[in-house]
Amino acid sequence: MAAAPTSSAAARRPHALLVPFPCSGHINPTLHLARLLHSAGFVVTFVSTEHNHALMRARARGGGEGFRYEAIPGGLSPSARRAHDYGFGVLRAVRAHWPGHLRELIARLNSVADDSSSSSSSPPPPVTCVVASELMSFALDVAASLGVAAYVLWGTSACGLSCGLAVRELRRRAYVPLKDASYLTNGYLDTPIDWIAGMPTVRLGDVSSFVRTLDPTSFALRVEEDEANSCARAQGLILNTFDDLESDVLEALKDEFPRVYTIGPLAAAMHGRVVDRANGHGGAAAGLSLWEEDAACMTWLDAQPSGAVLYVSFGSLTVMSPDNIAELAWGLAESRRPFLWVVRPGLVAGGINALPDGFVSETKDRCFIAEWCAQEQVLRHRAVGAFLTHSGWNSSTESICSGVPMICWPGFADQYINSRYVCDEWGIGLRLDEELRREQVAAHVEELMGGGGGRGEEMRRSAAKWKAMAESATANGGSSYVSLDKLVEQLRLETE
Ligand code: UDX
Repeated sequence: MAAAPTSSAAARRPHALLVPFPCSGHINPTLHLARLLHSAGFVVTFVSTEHNHALMRARARGGGEGFRYEAIPGGLSPSARRAHDYGFGVLRAVRAHWPGHLRELIARLNSVADDSSSSSSSPPPPVTCVVASELMSFALDVAASLGVAAYVLWGTSACGLSCGLAVRELRRRAYVPLKDASYLTNGYLDTPIDWIAGMPTVRLGDVSSFVRTLDPTSFALRVEEDEANSCARAQGLILNTFDDLESDVLEALKDEFPRVYTIGPLAAAMHGRVVDRANGHGGAAAGLSLWEEDAACMTWLDAQPSGAVLYVSFGSLTVMSPDNIAELAWGLAESRRPFLWVVRPGLVAGGINALPDGFVSETKDRCFIAEWCAQEQVLRHRAVGAFLTHSGWNSSTESICSGVPMICWPGFADQYINSRYVCDEWGIGLRLDEELRREQVAAHVEELMGGGGGRGEEMRRSAAKWKAMAESATANGGSSYVSLDKLVEQLRLETE
């Protein structure tokens, strides 16, 4: 139940406190939701680590977007930020440090709001709802203990959520943990799983990367299971997908959870519903860049023919081995097509210096290497014809919103099931083997981007169809548009 409002008009204004897991893949959908709620008249407080808070303040365009920002210490040292298992390091740190900080933050905000003698000229109204991204389920418990309504923003796929919910049953049926290391390579991961509600038959190995474990107490698998099940403790489940994209899975989830709001793809839902403060018109405002965006890549794209460029990027967390980097590099070289490759700091030990000898000089006439870019803009550029991706959910939906087919190289978490849907359910992608081989990289690029009809042309047509469906879902009267209105209405009720 919501905290009791004070009598002032300001106190009756709904106040949403948004708590994303602090990596791009979770910050970006939360940021999109923050803009949507803010434009619907909510006071929005966006919670981030001190590290990300500093980046947000430094890079906020035109003095920010009208939200309130609050920082909580991330609890991660600079060396841990560069560690190989950075994502799990962040997760352990936020779980250990954030619950107490979050409780103090909400209590502080609400005591200022409720204190009529406060000297602050315009204190925010009390927090009326907390929206926590997946991986932040402790925020649901903190909110509940303070009597504040709590919602989950599941920023990744509905099929990924269903797989997370299936982990308990996988354990019960003794599929996981694996019996011994031979199960990793003996074909066991191809075992068909045909009983997950709303899902087609999928490979065991695609249910999650985390089934690849011999450890019955695996931290990653436990987190996946717990986070999916924690949705039952929320007053509502907000999904970054749209009804037509994952219809069967969504039907099954709606049977399980009473209040489900499918408001995605959030990257597209921005259109027409939010005034972009930077340029004054409705548009797709970007996510938070945790690294400096290389603006020169847009100029480079301007000079390329339409549909000719392969965009290559693996999101904010993937770490590649030097062998995989070399196979990918030589595969791109063999493809003989122009490409824009994001080699993020931390993607591979040594960064750009880890690219194989001779690769840059051989491809320099048709390649642009950036450390980070404005991905949503890049994918919408007319020159981009295909996306070689790790199949993170944001990358997948941003590609769908841009009508760009994909070459998928999933690495962990939901990325396997996302790529299974991209390739087999939506028909807009080709999948690479786990160990990259240059011949396969080059062959997939040729198949997807080459002329002469065939599967590539079919996938480009399907990608255009899914783009149109994403647009209709988020247009006035579309399923996601209507669902967002219902969510806003429900969140407003939490003030009463
Ligand atoms: C994480 C998990 O790894 C992923 O499996 C899950 O689906 C979401 O959370 P991440 O690996 O960062 O996310 O991938 P993704 O979901 O694709 O998000 C990356 C975000 O960074 C996208 O919004 C993308 O637009 C942005 N990005 C990426 C940039 O803005 N610039 C870049 O150069 C690369």
